[in-house]
Amino acid sequence: MARSTLSLLSLVISLLIGLGSADWNILNYQNKKVLSGSSLKNYCESWRINVELNNIREFEVVPQECIEYIGKYMKSTQYKADILRAVEECQLYVSSCCNLKDGKDAWIFDVDDTLISTVPYFKKHGFGGIKVNITSLEGWMKQSKAPALDHTLGLFHEIKGKGFKVFLISTRRESLRDATVDNLIKEGYHGWAGLVLRDLQDENKHVHKYKAEARKRLVNEGYRIWGIIGDQWSSFDGTPSAKRTFKLPNSLYYIS
Ligand SMILES: *[C@@H]1O[C@H](CO)[C@@H](O)[C@H](O)[C@H]1NC(C)=O
Repeated sequence: MARSTLSLLSLVISLLIGLGSADWNILNYQNKKVLSGSSLKNYCESWRINVELNNIREFEVVPQECIEYIGKYMKSTQYKADILRAVEECQLYVSSCCNLKDGKDAWIFDVDDTLISTVPYFKKHGFGGIKVNITSLEGWMKQSKAPALDHTLGLFHEIKGKGFKVFLISTRRESLRDATVDNLIKEGYHGWAGLVLRDLQDENKHVHKYKAEARKRLVNEGYRIWGIIGDQWSSFDGTPSAKRTFKLPNSLYYIS
């Protein structure tokens, strides 16, 4: 009797575990209507916000059912408002943060989807729903036609005007240097103190490691890094860090 109760119990437990793991995917919850009243829009918005919270990591593609939602967001007034809010918080910090002194006060910007936008590329290439084709993306970058993000353009000049040395640290490869400089200048950016791009030996490294090493070189040169503004968490990870970091939204791709 006891034995059969035990085995019944273990059957129930294994069933529960089985159910638990089958239910683990939020989509399964949704299909089973456990999240009552939840819609695809709710699901996609929670996917998006969890990307921003750095809970969802290393995704290669936007979930198929959310491609349309993410595409709409990246073209929306809400996306612009979210960027503006981050920029305003950054301005607030900059207005009183730092006692600039000897020309060694530094601020770091990402390039893509921070200073200039890749949204026009992704608009034509599946809005994050297909794995990024580097050859095709770099071909587009070589054309130097990525538009500025207006709010960060203003912020860039404000920060530079306050006397910070502005460094751009990008995941782009060295082979794109001329095209990147052309693009930035055409869009109104100028006067940065350094543009760090990935050379061959950086290509096999995780981006967060490559970016931390670039900051390390700045610190070794005597710079104080007051802030970083970027659209990827890998722009902030590791040491040395900055006093403050400001994350811009980006749910099209994830760079680790
Ligand atoms: C990637 O893009 C290049 C250039 O547009 C193209 O020739 C190639 O076939 C693409 N690769 C894949 C896997 O789609």
